[in-house]
Amino acid sequence: MSVASSIVSHLESFPRLRTLHGPTPLDEACALSRHLGGPRIFLKRDDLTPAGLGGNKVRKLEFILGKAIAEGYDTIIACGGYQSNLARITAAMGARAGLQVELVLGGVPGEPHPVSANLLLDHLLGANIHLVETEPRWDFGTTIEDLAERLVKQGRRPMMMPLGGSSPEGMASYVLATAEMMQQFAENKIAPEHLYVGVGSGGTYSGLVLGECNLKPSYHVTGVSVSRTSEFLVEKVIDETTRAQEILSLPKTPKASDLTVFDDQIGAHYGAMTEAAEEAIHLLARLEGVLVDPVYSAKCLAGLIDHIRTGRIDKDDTVVFLHTGGTPALFAYDPAVLVPELRV
Ligand SMILES: Cc1ncc(COP(=O)(O)O)c(C=O)c1O
Repeated sequence: MSVASSIVSHLESFPRLRTLHGPTPLDEACALSRHLGGPRIFLKRDDLTPAGLGGNKVRKLEFILGKAIAEGYDTIIACGGYQSNLARITAAMGARAGLQVELVLGGVPGEPHPVSANLLLDHLLGANIHLVETEPRWDFGTTIEDLAERLVKQGRRPMMMPLGGSSPEGMASYVLATAEMMQQFAENKIAPEHLYVGVGSGGTYSGLVLGECNLKPSYHVTGVSVSRTSEFLVEKVIDETTRAQEILSLPKTPKASDLTVFDDQIGAHYGAMTEAAEEAIHLLARLEGVLVDPVYSAKCLAGLIDHIRTGRIDKDDTVVFLHTGGTPALFAYDPAVLVPELRV
C-alpha cells in the first residue's frame, strides 16, 4: 500500500457522522476563464455539501460530531458571529443526529443582528440561541464556560466546538478532501498548479496544507484571509498543524516557509464589502450562475482574480477555487450593497 493510501485509510477509520455521499462536483468555469484571458479555472463545489444549505464546515463536522457522539456527548455548544455559517451547519447536522445544539453568537457592540439569513435558519433548525456582545470581536469571556456549567447541572453532557470547527479531526476531513480532488484531477486529466481557499479560523486551510505535504497533489495551496493578518495566521496554522500531525499520525507537517497566505482582500473589517469582492460576486454570478458571499468566498475569489491579472497565476496554469459556501449570508446584506443597479 502506498503512503498516500495508508494515510487515507487511517483517516477513513475515524468516527464520522456520514453526511456526504460522494465527492462534491468539480466544474470548469469556462466563461470566467475567457473573461480573464486564461488560465483554466475549476470550481470545487464544497458549497453544495448536503447539510443546512452546505459549506466547508459539513466536512469538518462529519468528524467533530462523529467523535462527540462516539464519546457520549449529547449537547454541542458552538460559537461564532451572528451570521456564523458554522452555527447554521452545526444546528442542521446536530438536529439530524439528535444532538441538542446551543449557539453562542456574538458581534461587536452596536452591530445589528436582525433575525434573517443564517440567524433565521439557526432558529428554524431548532438550536437554542444565546446572543452576546463581544469586544474584541471573538472574545466570549466566560459566557461559554458558564453555559456549559448550567447545562451540566441540568444533566447534559456538553461538548465545546472549537472556534471555526478548527480541530485536528476537522483538519482530517480536508486531508481526505485533498485525496478526493486528486482522484477528480486524474479523471479530468488535469494537474492544477494552484488551489485557492478563504481563511477564517484557518482550519480548512490547515487541513489542505497537511494534505499538500502528505499526499503531494499537483497544486500549491494559497490562502486568502478574510479577517486576520498573514503573520498571525501562519503562526496559528503552524501551531495547529503540528498538533494535528501527532493526533492524526501523519508523516509530515508544513514549515512556515511552505505556507502562502495573503491578507490584502479583507477591506475595512471582517464582513465588510469591498470593490474587489463586489466584482467577484458579479462575475461568478453572471458568467457562471454561481453565487458567492461577501464575507468569505467572494474575498477569496477576488484574491484569485487579482493574482490572474497581476501574473502570479500564469495564463497557461490551471487553478482550482475551493468554493466554501456561505451563500445564505447574502440575505443579511442590504440589497443596494450587493446590486449596483439597485443603488439610487
Ligand atoms: C463560507 C466559509 N468559507 C470559509 C470559511 C473559512 O474556514 P476556516 O474557518 O476553516 O478558515 C468559513 C468559516 O467560517 C466559512 O463559513
